[in-house]
Amino acid sequence: MTPILPPAILGVLGGGQLGGFFVRAARRLGYGTAVLDPDAEAPAHALADHRIVAELDDAAALDRLATLCAAVTVEREGVPASTLHRLAARCTVAPNAEALAIGQDRLREKRFLRAIGLPTAPWREVLAPADAAPGALFPALLKTARGGYDGKGQRRPEAPGELPAAWRALGAVPCVLEKRLALERELSLVLARGRDGRTAAYPVAENRHRAGILHTSVAPAPIPEALAAQAVAAAERIASALDYVGVLAVEFFVAGGALRVNEFAPRPHNSGHFTLDACATSQFEQQVRALCGLPLGETTLRSPAAMLNVLGEAWAAGEPPWPGLMRGHRGTLHLYGKRQAKLGRKMAHVTLLAASASAALAEAEALHAQLMRHANAPVLGRARGRIARAPAGQAAFKTAPARDSR
Ligand SMILES: Nc1ncnc2c1ncn2[C@@H]1O[C@H](COP(=O)(O)OP(=O)(O)O)[C@@H](O)[C@H]1O
Ligand SMILES: [Mg+2]
Repeated sequence: MTPILPPAILGVLGGGQLGGFFVRAARRLGYGTAVLDPDAEAPAHALADHRIVAELDDAAALDRLATLCAAVTVEREGVPASTLHRLAARCTVAPNAEALAIGQDRLREKRFLRAIGLPTAPWREVLAPADAAPGALFPALLKTARGGYDGKGQRRPEAPGELPAAWRALGAVPCVLEKRLALERELSLVLARGRDGRTAAYPVAENRHRAGILHTSVAPAPIPEALAAQAVAAAERIASALDYVGVLAVEFFVAGGALRVNEFAPRPHNSGHFTLDACATSQFEQQVRALCGLPLGETTLRSPAAMLNVLGEAWAAGEPPWPGLMRGHRGTLHLYGKRQAKLGRKMAHVTLLAASASAALAEAEALHAQLMRHANAPVLGRARGRIARAPAGQAAFKTAPARDSR
């Protein structure tokens, strides 16, 4: 394929922070940009040359996007396959519909991983309350096959007897039942694959979650070389089996010293945000490059780095006093431009660079503690259930957890 060159217009389905970073990367390389998202206040809309406020399956909106754009990609996996097929008939689309269809359904994902010989946590499908589950899978995690993210759509049955109630609590929809593993570490790897089948992997990151939401990512992960090589090989196997073009993120568990695949996302990933500040080519520039058929960029780490996610909690007492908070840190603050802060909503992240990964992580935790001191837990408690209006120009804080906290 001849490369798509600037000033062609590139489109993205979804206008959250991931779409926003894609738009910035595309613009920096000289491309025009278009965003399709039903939410008029989605942060990426404000950054794009063309804003299409419509549902992701709106035929007229998709036709307009396809007419505008030379190529279209996604910032979330929940895009209907029919949307990608409609676009692909008129413009370049990557990743392909099949990769998205597998990535958005945990059952298909697990079957696919088994078929290509990659280890996961032991699992069974649960499609009906009577589905027998072997006792060896407990204590377990029950996850809805579709629609879950940031730990949503999950229950934790301790024993087989609790399974029917857990399944009903999740809406009696198709689910995956997984053995709950004693995790030694959680890792992730972001890999790009071009149309020519060439790949470029970023260093493996180690991730820590709180309440199911990514809290920190550190690169390079403090793991043996052989384990990192296994992670790269697993991601390459997934990408090649999917005939994948674009940026792919794979989450791994380390349990009993062995690597298992947790899940993958057909897009850049929160745990790859360190690449914005610590690598020559960010995961978002790489997304542009793979989509357009440009050579993939360099992925070496220029400095050990830690990324701290900043959630809506930090706004409980108003906009955090960023200049003071960032003083003394070798860090970069990325604010997503969301108008309303909510509990658990990803509002910003900070990348901290340091001489070692552990020093960068310590700085991230120190910054997090400062942010929480600012937010002041008692204020948060008193405000619970009410909506606190922030001064103009700042994100308002809403204490009710967001139903959609993206
Ligand atoms: N089988 C498991 N054993 C232990 N912990 C798990 C297991 N599955 C998920 N988790 C924990 O829950 C987190 C969220 O689960 P995940 O399947 O990645 O869903 P999401 O789509 O919400 O990211 C994981 O990062 C991990 O911390
Ligand atoms: Mg996950």
